[in-house]
Amino acid sequence: MHFGNAWYPEHWPEERWEQDVRLMHEAGMTVCRIAEFAWSSIEPTDGRYELDWIDRAIALLHKYEIATVLGTPTAAPPAWVTYYHPDTLAIESSGRPATHGNRCHASPNSPTYLKYCRRVIEHMARRFGNDPRVIGWQLDNEYNRVDYSDTAKRQFQHFLKERYVTIDKLNDHWSTAYWSQTYDFWEQIPIPVGGHNPGLMLAFRQFVTYTWQEFQRHQIEAIRNNSNSSQWITTNLMGWFDGFDTYKVAKDLDFVSWDWYIGSGHHDYTRTGLLHDLNRGFKHKNFWIMETQPGTVNWHSNNNSLYKGEARVMAFHAAAHGADALVYWQWRSALGGQEQLHGSLVGPDGNPRPFYNDACKIGSDFKLVSDALEGTTVKADVAILHSYDSRWAINGQRHNSAYDPVDYIEHCYRPLALHNVAVDVIAPSAPLDDYSLVIAASLSVLPADIAAHLAAWVYAGGVLVLTPRSGHKDEHNALHTSLQPGPLRELAGAEVEEYFALDEPVTVVPGWGELEAGEATIWAEMLRPLSATTRVAATYGPSNGWLDGKPAVTINPVGEAGGKLIMIGPWLDARLQESMVLWVLAEAGLRGVDSPPEVEIAVRQAPDGRKVTFVINHCREQRTTLLPESAAGQKDLLTGNVAAASVTLEPLGIAVLSAT
Ligand code: GAL
Repeated sequence: MHFGNAWYPEHWPEERWEQDVRLMHEAGMTVCRIAEFAWSSIEPTDGRYELDWIDRAIALLHKYEIATVLGTPTAAPPAWVTYYHPDTLAIESSGRPATHGNRCHASPNSPTYLKYCRRVIEHMARRFGNDPRVIGWQLDNEYNRVDYSDTAKRQFQHFLKERYVTIDKLNDHWSTAYWSQTYDFWEQIPIPVGGHNPGLMLAFRQFVTYTWQEFQRHQIEAIRNNSNSSQWITTNLMGWFDGFDTYKVAKDLDFVSWDWYIGSGHHDYTRTGLLHDLNRGFKHKNFWIMETQPGTVNWHSNNNSLYKGEARVMAFHAAAHGADALVYWQWRSALGGQEQLHGSLVGPDGNPRPFYNDACKIGSDFKLVSDALEGTTVKADVAILHSYDSRWAINGQRHNSAYDPVDYIEHCYRPLALHNVAVDVIAPSAPLDDYSLVIAASLSVLPADIAAHLAAWVYAGGVLVLTPRSGHKDEHNALHTSLQPGPLRELAGAEVEEYFALDEPVTVVPGWGELEAGEATIWAEMLRPLSATTRVAATYGPSNGWLDGKPAVTINPVGEAGGKLIMIGPWLDARLQESMVLWVLAEAGLRGVDSPPEVEIAVRQAPDGRKVTFVINHCREQRTTLLPESAAGQKDLLTGNVAAASVTLEPLGIAVLSAT
């Protein structure tokens, strides 16, 4: 486990640096990220590089046994770049150029910007690419800018040409005869602003993904051509951000890291666990928390503080889900920077803030578990399929504004979290052999090849759950000509006869052992069984007339290996969703682990089966929980106590159990 912070030494007089680094060391920090956003200090004028200060900062960190992560400074191009090369500025959707100085103002599509990015990174890599004190690189910062310039438009048109080859094919897939959109040649195709043709909108998102892949490829090449391979390369991602397809962008990174901020309120482990699992799923690998808030942020409606002790619970929760590092943002706020009031570890007076003590405790606790966690990760039997294409397709036409595809994924995840079931969140094209149960959450875009991939796995014995809106569209965001679930209709032994955006709740009568009827809100699909083997597992009660007595959930056995395809038509209420999830788990031969409310039990394990069990009390009251058999009798690495069959945790208390 690494533990650290983001430090901007260029904001402070050098005489102060050693005091800061000593305080980091005393907090148990092992890693520090520097140089991100520091372009104007690295290349103050065109072609004049000043890297000695970075070298001195690295040396100081090294003296205190802190490894360096170098940020490429490209999210903040200096004033001279903007002034002498206005073509580097991104154009906003309004048609106006972005304003210099709020970072991320440059266009990832601008060849001039890319040239300058590459050059500054090459200089940094030549100097530090073989420096053992630098363990890795973080590229840019939270890729997010979309450019609406003519340059970007030409690149988009070229991207479409590569994909569709002939303009007729594009017209055909996008149904452009509708509203006379038919294009005669590529140069006529616009960048969509706001709502537009579904094919165009989806393709533009995919082009933005391609843009970031290319942007990143330049940066990776600039480093790799000048460094040794022991330095890793990552970038810091933003949770559910859907500006590009992160599965694609993550491919070229050594691992992903992400920035975990709570903003207002407090952390809810049944939602944040999903975010960690999402990030672990990008590469099916452990990840870093490259930024997290030291108590508070400055950008939310109410920048309340975390509870005392909450950050420690968050840190261990992240570790339990596969984080191999936790890095606070930031060490100290620049006196006149845009983020003056953000949480930090040291105040404007240079002294530790109250949060620093929480950090020290995390630092010393991480040291106690670090060896046991080496080589371990989360092993899940359940996967949730998460598709950017589907999110873009649904968000483009929600049909009911309350249908948020991310909310729906959370709705599937929460019961699994409450029952301590490990979950991988993966792309629909990912290998499925490790899983017994796969939940396709609102998999609206279901091309034939993905359907074939899922079908093969179901024939091999997998249990696939298709939730509302699945199998609606093809890869061009056009409607399938067969009813949902489109290419999986036969395997499902059922189809969606009609879908309803709900303005009032409808009753759902389950048939999976749950006796009480419940409700559906937001969305309901009327299912029609198509084969003699299909069983109706829930029906709608009296409702809008259309749905009365109709099938709401179906299950169909598939093949000889025990495979099943389950279709869920309605957005169920929380209680019914929980009982439905327990039912599908049982159909897949799985069950969860019981624990009292707000107590999480999570396991990391090594390839040889060695397990580390995290028991985390997320609430501010004492809790006692039974332990899974594999953890009973093991040592709590944090206290040294040997656990019996149960463990009692203090408010916000944690136990980390291991045989070693
Ligand atoms: C992140 C960003 C950091 C800092 C932080 C404040 O999104 O990467 O540089 O601005 O937010 O919470």
